Amino acid sequence: MIKKVGIIGGGTMGSGIAQVAATAGCSVKLYDTKTEALEKAKADLEKIMDRLLEKGKINSEEKQRIQNNIKYVNSLKELKDSDLTIEAIVENLEIKKNVFSTLEKFVGDDCIIASNTSSLSIASIASSLQKPERCIGIHFFNPAPLMKLVEVIPAIQTSEETLKNSVEIIKNWNKTVAVAKDTPGFIVNRVARPFYGEALRIYEEGFASFAEIDSAMKEIGGFRMGPFELMDFIGNDVNYTVTETVFEAFYYDPRYKPSFTQKRFAEAGYLGRKSGKGYYNYSDGVSLSAGEGDFDSEKAEQIFNRILVMLINEAADALFWNIASAEDIDNAMTKGVNYPKGLLAWADEKGMDWCVKKMDELYDEYHEDRYRCSPLLRRMNKGGLRFGV
Ligand code: NAI
Repeated sequence: MIKKVGIIGGGTMGSGIAQVAATAGCSVKLYDTKTEALEKAKADLEKIMDRLLEKGKINSEEKQRIQNNIKYVNSLKELKDSDLTIEAIVENLEIKKNVFSTLEKFVGDDCIIASNTSSLSIASIASSLQKPERCIGIHFFNPAPLMKLVEVIPAIQTSEETLKNSVEIIKNWNKTVAVAKDTPGFIVNRVARPFYGEALRIYEEGFASFAEIDSAMKEIGGFRMGPFELMDFIGNDVNYTVTETVFEAFYYDPRYKPSFTQKRFAEAGYLGRKSGKGYYNYSDGVSLSAGEGDFDSEKAEQIFNRILVMLINEAADALFWNIASAEDIDNAMTKGVNYPKGLLAWADEKGMDWCVKKMDELYDEYHEDRYRCSPLLRRMNKGGLRFGV
């Protein structure tokens, strides 16, 4: 049973993961090279606990217990008695590999060594270890204490036992696990690309404004945020970098091609909420002019159908390439990015014939590889099959 957890990196993700593990009763050591980062992590946790206490979600004993479960340490060696370590430091392969090979000298043979990386391959990180079979990806979503999903990513070196024990512990932490193949973007950061990319493209073609596209996705699709609101929330710099990384990692597959519009917004410093301006203006609080007044329902339907079918196609293709099970692909999108429905369930609802027809219409219009229909959708349409998620 995993009880002792070491977290490396006490920034946004590391401190959130520490909270999750401590809440679940593990004894956690949070390590960072910067004392200020540890002090901030501690102070932030205190604030979060006070808020939970005020709301009546925890009592003062639980607050004490959770806080006492975390020790803040400034030496990697302190993590030596861990059963599991999760690394959440800068997204840099060489730095991560250095930390992993140093860490392995301190911990016991049975310790699982995991990374929370979003974009690096787990195989490359695992290669820094003497015992790479103990290495795995354990990918949380921000904010870690609130987002239900955790992607667990075995590398080709990872042992069955490491996978089994990692899934078990993350489930014990009250999270939903989706097991993904070690491929760019894992599940969520791959399948979600068209939500942003197709929206940006519709805008670039001059078909609709940011507000019209956002309204269509919210009002017809039931998405909590439209693509432009969400990009402003995530930050155009961060979202653009994820797209560019996935595009390059997929050997420039045109399906993931980044957008000039977003690149210029990032270059101009129009990052979104955090800079006060993005696709919308946030300088006077949050002022979203979603243009509800002039909602054109036929146009909105076209926008929604085009983005939805591209998302469905991406989810079906992830299943076609065995990136994850149908159930895990749908769970990933509803629990990792709050989609109103799983995309494969949505495909069943719309019908395979509708999905194939819509993709082929787009392909006929543009003759671009970006709009190729996944072979799985075609195969299922021919066979009269459903995903049945
Ligand atoms: P962050 O910048 O908030 O925190 C990183 C922390 O690591 C900093 O406190 C820094 O002082 C510390 N650090 C840097 N080098 C170190 C070293 N050699 N040893 C110990 N500590 C070191 O970064 P964030 O956002 O928490 O991301 C961390 C990792 O999590 C990255 O791999 C990122 O790709 C991944 N990730 C980030 C998500 C996000 O939304 N921010 C979501 C999921 C994964």
